[in-house]
Amino acid sequence: MKFFADTAEIAEIRELAATGLLDGVTTNPSLIHKSGRDFVEVVREIASVVSGPVSAEVVALDYEGMMREAEILRKIGDNIAIKVPLTPDGLKTCKALTSDGSMVNVTLCFSANQALLAAKAGATFISPFVGRHDDVGFNGMELIADIRLIYDNYDFGTEILVASVRHPIHVLETAKIGADIMTAPPKIIWQLFKHPLTDWASRASWPTGKRRVRGSEPPRPAEIGN
Ligand code: E4P
Repeated sequence: MKFFADTAEIAEIRELAATGLLDGVTTNPSLIHKSGRDFVEVVREIASVVSGPVSAEVVALDYEGMMREAEILRKIGDNIAIKVPLTPDGLKTCKALTSDGSMVNVTLCFSANQALLAAKAGATFISPFVGRHDDVGFNGMELIADIRLIYDNYDFGTEILVASVRHPIHVLETAKIGADIMTAPPKIIWQLFKHPLTDWASRASWPTGKRRVRGSEPPRPAEIGN
């Protein structure tokens, strides 16, 4: 499973890239807006740090406008994936861009039927939003399982990019279902490393100065974190 970082913060991207575990980046206009920097400049910098796909989203709502913005964005580099919304104009744009050799990430997917449409439009990536799905009382991971089943039924090459990931259990479920990619804020990717018993066992010594003995009894819950 590939790991993408859902951020526009270049320092966070560099830090994750140094682990060797980062396969790509997704951005969106609000993440870039938060950085207070120029949109194209930020996308260019990210695309120079990460060799994998970097999603850059169009903001126009009509086909002509999306194509105009995509023309600017795809010139940034071969690793740019144009991100378009799951609307009739978005899928028309998707078809035109992928037929022309560009990568396209179809975003704002909230149903398996929408994912089917995106695959038929030749999407490189489909981004179902699990967290936002959970927020309104549905089970986001059931959506991922349905999309996996449909794509396997018809051998669609579109990669399932699980988005709106809010916690490590979303990552675990994504891997169990067999989705291709998950994109998460860096904080969540760092949380995946954590386990109290790993922290304990990797300490050089107890706070008392006594040497830790590998294989000795693990700490009681009250001792974890001391
Ligand atoms: C993905 O491409 C989106 O940028 C992102 O996952 C949205 O997540 P949110 O629901 O936390 O805004």
